[in-house]
Amino acid sequence: VGYSSIHIYVCVYIYLFQPCISIMGWLCVESSINEHWIMHSQYSHTVTHFQHFINYLSSRVFLSYFNIFPLFCISEFRYNDLVSPHYLNLIANLSGCTAHRRSPNCSDICFHQKYRTHDGTCNNLQNPMWGASMTAFERILKPVYENGFNLPRGVSPNSFSTTQYPLPLPRIVSTKMVGTATITPDDRYTHMLMQWGQFLDHDLDQTVPALSMSRFSDGQSCSSVCTNDPPCFPILVPQNDARAANSQCMFFVRSSPVCGSGMTSLMMSSVYAREQINQLTAYIDASNVYGSSDRESEELRDHTDQRGLLKKGLPIPSSEKHLLPFSTGPPTECTRDENESLIPCFLAGDHRANEQLALTAMHTLWFREHNRIATELFTLNPHWDGDTIYNEARKIVGAQMQHITYSHWLPKILGDRGMKMLGHYKGYNPNVNSGIINSFATAAFRFGHTLINPILYRLNDTFGEIPEGHLPLHKAFFSPFRIIQEGGIDPLLRGLFGVAGKLRVPSQLLNLELTEKLFSMAHSVALDLAATNIQRGRDHGIPPYTDFRVFCNLTSVENFEDLHNEIKDPNIREKLKKLYGTPLNIDLWPALMVEDLIPGTRVGPTLMCLFITQFQRLRDGDRFWYENPGVFTPAQVTQLKQASLAHVLCENADNIQQVQADVFLKAEYPQGYMNCNEIPKIDLRVWQDCCEGQ
Ligand code: HEM
Ligand SMILES: *[C@@H]1O[C@H](CO)[C@@H](O)[C@H](O)[C@H]1NC(C)=O
Ligand SMILES: *[C@@H]1O[C@H](CO)[C@@H](O)[C@H](O)[C@H]1NC(C)=O
Ligand SMILES: *[C@@H]1O[C@H](CO)[C@@H](O)[C@H](O)[C@H]1NC(C)=O
Ligand SMILES: *[C@@H]1O[C@H](CO)[C@@H](O)[C@H](O)[C@H]1NC(C)=O
Ligand SMILES: *[C@@H]1O[C@H](CO)[C@@H](O)[C@H](O)[C@H]1NC(C)=O
Repeated sequence: VGYSSIHIYVCVYIYLFQPCISIMGWLCVESSINEHWIMHSQYSHTVTHFQHFINYLSSRVFLSYFNIFPLFCISEFRYNDLVSPHYLNLIANLSGCTAHRRSPNCSDICFHQKYRTHDGTCNNLQNPMWGASMTAFERILKPVYENGFNLPRGVSPNSFSTTQYPLPLPRIVSTKMVGTATITPDDRYTHMLMQWGQFLDHDLDQTVPALSMSRFSDGQSCSSVCTNDPPCFPILVPQNDARAANSQCMFFVRSSPVCGSGMTSLMMSSVYAREQINQLTAYIDASNVYGSSDRESEELRDHTDQRGLLKKGLPIPSSEKHLLPFSTGPPTECTRDENESLIPCFLAGDHRANEQLALTAMHTLWFREHNRIATELFTLNPHWDGDTIYNEARKIVGAQMQHITYSHWLPKILGDRGMKMLGHYKGYNPNVNSGIINSFATAAFRFGHTLINPILYRLNDTFGEIPEGHLPLHKAFFSPFRIIQEGGIDPLLRGLFGVAGKLRVPSQLLNLELTEKLFSMAHSVALDLAATNIQRGRDHGIPPYTDFRVFCNLTSVENFEDLHNEIKDPNIREKLKKLYGTPLNIDLWPALMVEDLIPGTRVGPTLMCLFITQFQRLRDGDRFWYENPGVFTPAQVTQLKQASLAHVLCENADNIQQVQADVFLKAEYPQGYMNCNEIPKIDLRVWQDCCEGQ
């Protein structure tokens, strides 16, 4: 499912005969970042000019990508030898390679002392691009590619693999080891534990996909291509798989490389391994509410009166509350099934807000929280202008998310032991880069996929099933019409905090809705989230599990028996052996998922180590961390520490009256539930300017 699909190629024609290579054809570079390319005024005239060229190219169906370049020649050849430096420079300019090498202007220090930018630039004043949107993911280990710089591991069956064992097809790993029909409910935590994880993830990272969903060679859509033709990298379905009757492969496109890495690095006369791009700001800054660029944030703001509000959508019956605004533009995945509904997608700060209904409900909750706070701040400070109200409310919303994440959510994931490793906050450290680590986004944090129930429960005021019934998960993908037509967001939210979550058991990882029915309404061949995660890991050059064990100071591993401390179940070690042959081959994501939980936590040892690494950086490297002295007044911090998801639910759900004080903790209604007026709240009066002139 693509969130954007603008096709932009920049091409030169090459005609060349040399001893080890002969090329006659187009060298085309896929522009890596359309937004910057198009927005960059310097290029706007070229864009229109180029449109004709691109039309011409697609009508001729004559595009060839440079993968025809024989690999063994790389050491002897450089693009410089093929194309003159002037043209290389021109391609780099036109493809957007140079345009997105931004050097942000942090000179408006009065602003940067007070507020975050939308794109995360100027948070770190010495390194203003740290944590910014549209920059490369960080690496804690060098990437591992089949050819050393851009091809996924295992892409060719008899290749340079360092071991004699071929890598298993991701789909086989999924069916043999990941998919499960059996679910064990969590004995302590609610399904909200899962939902906060996904919502948080969508504040942290989204990988930029290839801009085109069609193969470069002839323009055929990747959904109907079963060979590895860039950017398509389909997930093969083995012969004896029930899916094979339907299709030989599942849709997958590679992530967009950073310009100047992978193939395009040759253009810059150097070889850098392929790196991927994070479209979001790394910081926990509520970018899922406000967007990760100035342009996105402007689209979300309501400028009709100077009240600092976000745009509202439809009002809900008998209340002053509103739904999110609709997203304008071409029809999207939300209206694929014309028989079900013509309701378009909702618009929020993250493009994935409609991916499943419970997530949409969370986005609705938080956009309302912004408007609630903004309204209250205006009452307290009628002299503030719209921008001040907006920025102050945004700051409070982001701080609440940090507090909920570190004080309520992480302690349940990491346990006491992990919280000790994370350590207390010791103030801002400008030497820490908060950027999201590639293996965190591509493997570790996808642990949340193992916490998802196959059913979204929908509960009424007394926590019974609503007349429309509960929803099998596949019916909740991209279906915002159900919020409008089937009872609003409350039933979904109660289903999150009123029902146990799924426990990760090493033999029960992903429910079948996710491995067999993912986005089945929008794709003729349903996707498989487990296989996708594994394929994505290889796409991104994520090193195998054993390398991360070394990073994390775990015992070294020579055979599968040596994994017995972390993976106790001999059946699982046996499965790994059958699939991978050698421990050196095991993909990171599935290995992290089959590690046993450390008692009192929801993670295994390697996952713990990766989480600690990332969450320390996100906290310590954020100049606007809510506890960093000077960001808020001490009185304000005291108030922010009253924040809870329970209170946000009470204020902003359609009409929820009863919650647990900690909505991540399971309770049996009505025991353990409180009336909303008993839940502590943030007293916004300490945001009133009353000491003017001091
Ligand atoms: C019903 C719930 C969910 C669905 C349907 C879902 C689906 C997906 C899909 C389709 C992708 C993109 C896969 C790819 O092409 O590489 C993805 C990525 C991801 N998911 Fe989920 N997910 C869900 C819940 C969660 C949860 C609960 C978490 C974490 C606690 C999570 C963490 C992530 C992360 C970190 C990524 C990578 C994002 C990026 O940087 O691109 N997801 N998910
Ligand atoms: C590419 O862009 C740079 C910086 O804007 C400029 O100095 C250079 O002349 C451009 N090169 C070509 C060939 O257009
Ligand atoms: C940076 O921004 C300031 C004001 O925001 C402006 O006056 C200045 O010219 C800008 N500098 C550059 C190099 O763009
Ligand atoms: C919509 O309904 C019509 C008639 O029942 C059917 O022919 C058509 O295939 C349906 N469309 C989809 C996308 O299911
Ligand atoms: C909630 O649902 C249950 C079961 O469907 C029903 O018995 C109960 O009356 C409903 N409560 C309300 C307040 O509608
Ligand atoms: C591994 O051990 C070394 C040496 O004791 C230490 O410096 C390093 O921080 C440890 N790594 C992790 C990820 O804990």
